[in-house]
Amino acid sequence: MGHISANVHDDIKKVLITEEQIAKRCDELGAEISADYAGKELVVIFVLKGASIFFADLIRRINVPMQVDSIAAASYGNTTKSSGTVRIDKDIETAIEGRHVMLVEDIIDTGLTLSYLKSYFERQKPASLKVAALLDKPGARKVDLVPDYNGFTIGNEFVVGYGLDYAQHFRNLPYIAIPKDYVWNDEEKE
Ligand code: IMP
Repeated sequence: MGHISANVHDDIKKVLITEEQIAKRCDELGAEISADYAGKELVVIFVLKGASIFFADLIRRINVPMQVDSIAAASYGNTTKSSGTVRIDKDIETAIEGRHVMLVEDIIDTGLTLSYLKSYFERQKPASLKVAALLDKPGARKVDLVPDYNGFTIGNEFVVGYGLDYAQHFRNLPYIAIPKDYVWNDEEKE
């Protein structure tokens, strides 16, 4: 991690998606999901830590009964490059067999994390399993995977904010952004 400022906003080069745009999209997705699951109950599982803010905003716009849980899966370490391996550091506590499950993810890049998690949950025999992702980077995909609900489609740039980190920083930005160049140091850029 390179130099960081006392105020996180000062380390931002460009805001890609504003707070207002995110809020509007959450309204739309919440309404769509509420309609799709009308009359049903959900188990909503979010992927720590990146999806936590999107999850918190999204579920408050969904009006069907639900239980919530979380899973911690690591595929990246502190770099911007996918390692291709997924490790579960914290599992769910909910029995999902026969339940309608929605997995909430921050961003789908190569798709390796999500395809691993999808098959992990499929083996537990849910009645249905869908994916909501805040961001989709289809250009980086290594496995065939399309989110059922998608916030925004972006290019291959590395983004931070609204839960997404670079080396555990910037999760608290209320918008999605690209940091200034000095934030990446040589070692972590590889
Ligand atoms: P995938 O397995 O390559 O799809 O990687 C998904 C995970 O990588 C996400 O859940 C993020 O934690 C991380 N990731 C991928 N792209 C970005 C990015 O642009 N910013 C921050 N994290 C990212």
